[in-house]
Amino acid sequence: MNSAFFSLKVLCVASVVAGFASQAALGSDDLNDYAHSEEAQEYIHGSPEQPTDTWILSSGGRIYDNWWNALDRDPPETTHPSYPEAGEQTGATTWRCKECHGWDYRGVDGIYASGSHFTGIPGIYGAIGGNETAIAALLRGPDHGYTADMINDEELARLAAFVSRGQVDMSRYVNLETRGIIWGDLNRGRAIFQSTCAACHGFDGRAYDWGEGDEHAYVGTEAVAAPDEVMGKIMNGHPGVAMINLRAFGPDAAHDVLSYAATLPE
Ligand code: HEC
Ligand code: HEC
Repeated sequence: MNSAFFSLKVLCVASVVAGFASQAALGSDDLNDYAHSEEAQEYIHGSPEQPTDTWILSSGGRIYDNWWNALDRDPPETTHPSYPEAGEQTGATTWRCKECHGWDYRGVDGIYASGSHFTGIPGIYGAIGGNETAIAALLRGPDHGYTADMINDEELARLAAFVSRGQVDMSRYVNLETRGIIWGDLNRGRAIFQSTCAACHGFDGRAYDWGEGDEHAYVGTEAVAAPDEVMGKIMNGHPGVAMINLRAFGPDAAHDVLSYAATLPE
């Protein structure tokens, strides 16, 4: 055999094998590796040249969820100074807005009224319609202590816009006493899920498993256990990964997807 032809063939086989290997290696460790390639940086951590309000509010929602994953910063190493003794959490998670104010934005008056996320701190629901400059200033103040190294001014403006104009009324979608879903339109939810979410999560919501060991965590698992959290993920995306969000289609579409998601296998 002509040796040039032979080496070309070896090269092709080698790259096919390498291709398979990298596909097979895309396990949950890779999904949970929140360091990104250059292409991923733009959608996940960058911003469009002409951002719409929809984009700004969903970005603010991801910062509210977990600002260091949303913004590609180092997580804090300390427990937040305003995190109360009564709370059970420690370390970085106590710096997440949701940890003190809740996925339902109601703090002690909502789902975090009891349980392992109890803090006794009120929600941010009362700040709807509030002045965004004042909200941003409050977050730099002594109770909160978010420095510009953590969240810069432009990012803080997105977060303040979310607080003032991006919160949904979670009591319309989730029973805040029982944490059960208030059912929406399952057929519409199924149509949206099968044509958007399924691209990554699979038709049964089980393509990704972010659980640990024998404890599986699929879309269906989480939609049943924490519908308020999943409603937030659908409206804003999941910080630090290339997940889409449905904010542009409004909370009713998101609510229908949430409802269908809760019927998927756990
Ligand atoms: C460690 C707990 C903690 C964390 C984390 C936290 N906050 Fe707060 N927040 C508080 C406390 C305490 C208050 C004051 C409540 C009061 O008035 O008694 C407050 C008040 C607020 C208010 C005013 C609410 C109102 O109705 O006037 C807003 C808005 C707010 N926080 C937004 C945020 C955002 C956005 C984040 C994330 C960047 C955040 N907070 C993170 C503890 C926290
Ligand atoms: C482009 C791919 C993509 C699409 C489309 C997508 N997601 Fe995701 N989603 C992800 C990735 C990646 C994760 C992170 C998984 C992990 O951390 O293991 C994720 C995480 C989640 C989580 C878990 C968040 C958590 O708490 O860890 C939920 C719930 C979720 N997605 C629901 C949905 C729903 C509902 C839709 C449709 C509206 C959707 N996703 C569309 C990629 C996608």
